[in-house]
Amino acid sequence: MREIAVIGAGAMGSGIAQVFAQAGDVVRLVEAGSEQLEKGMAGIQRQLDRSVERGRLTDAERAEALGRLHPSTDLRNAALADLVVEAVYESLEVKLEVFRTLDVECSPDTILASNTSSISITTLAAATGRPDRVIGMHFFNPVPVMKLVEIVRGPATSDATFERIESEARRLGKEPVEVRDFPGFVPNRVLMPMINEAIFALYEGEASATAIDTVMKLGMNHPMGPLELADFIGLDVCLGIMNVLHEGFGDPKYRPCPLLKQMVAAGRLGCKSGSGFHEYSD
Ligand code: CAA
Repeated sequence: MREIAVIGAGAMGSGIAQVFAQAGDVVRLVEAGSEQLEKGMAGIQRQLDRSVERGRLTDAERAEALGRLHPSTDLRNAALADLVVEAVYESLEVKLEVFRTLDVECSPDTILASNTSSISITTLAAATGRPDRVIGMHFFNPVPVMKLVEIVRGPATSDATFERIESEARRLGKEPVEVRDFPGFVPNRVLMPMINEAIFALYEGEASATAIDTVMKLGMNHPMGPLELADFIGLDVCLGIMNVLHEGFGDPKYRPCPLLKQMVAAGRLGCKSGSGFHEYSD
């Protein structure tokens, strides 16, 4: 049985841990805070329960998947894994610290993958002594549902590392797509300017948040409107990605809307804070 470590038990980290555990791997789920770790594990339990209720999973399969998941608050518990997927908070400083520690704790052969949605893989790789084994393995929320895994190659990422991550993604039932390390990679270079533009339309008083979302849902067949999706992703994450695009390309077309900045400053972060462009009771 393979051992995988997932660092970070937020929505993405716990989703990633769940899909690896369901694929048959022993998973160390590491999170610094015990409260967040419990929340992440409870979220996985809820998702697995729902799958049993829907008949997608048997009781025994749920028990096996849960038995393969080992929560921990100690990053050193990642040491035995031969693949680590980092999914901590989207901050360069936080991720660099995690990568430096993993580089010391893990075997030199271990692949260090990041689920970052916008931070440079080149920069993370340069903080380690194994840039050939550093790669982006970018999942999408909700991880158990979304089919895509964007694989981001830095200039030093080896073919062997890429091929391993590509085969892991397929083993999880996902569709891998290869991209190069450019700011925002492909999804967020395309998605975030659309979300930012929707926020400008609201800011300038062109239409209400509900109207903007309805236009994109009914007119373009998007499953969620752009403002609803921004709330789902987290407005702090959206702002962080716009800043990466703005700084990375040096092009004013990527400037974040002042309303987005203001909402983040006010702590209105979307679903996770209960309020964003829309209100969330639960
Ligand atoms: N975790 C696991 N499964 C979930 C889930 C979650 N958080 N949310 C919904 N699902 C499952 C449900 O269980 C349901 O399946 P069953 O009915 O068989 O149980 C299925 O998804 C559909 O859910 P719903 O019927 O409740 O709702 P829906 O049809 O509106 O679909 C959605 C929900 C899948 C989230 C859909 O609205 C959607 O696709 N939205 C867009 C999501 C998207 O764009 N994600 C990418 C965000 S960007 C990102 O993640 C990366 C980045 O870099 C920022």
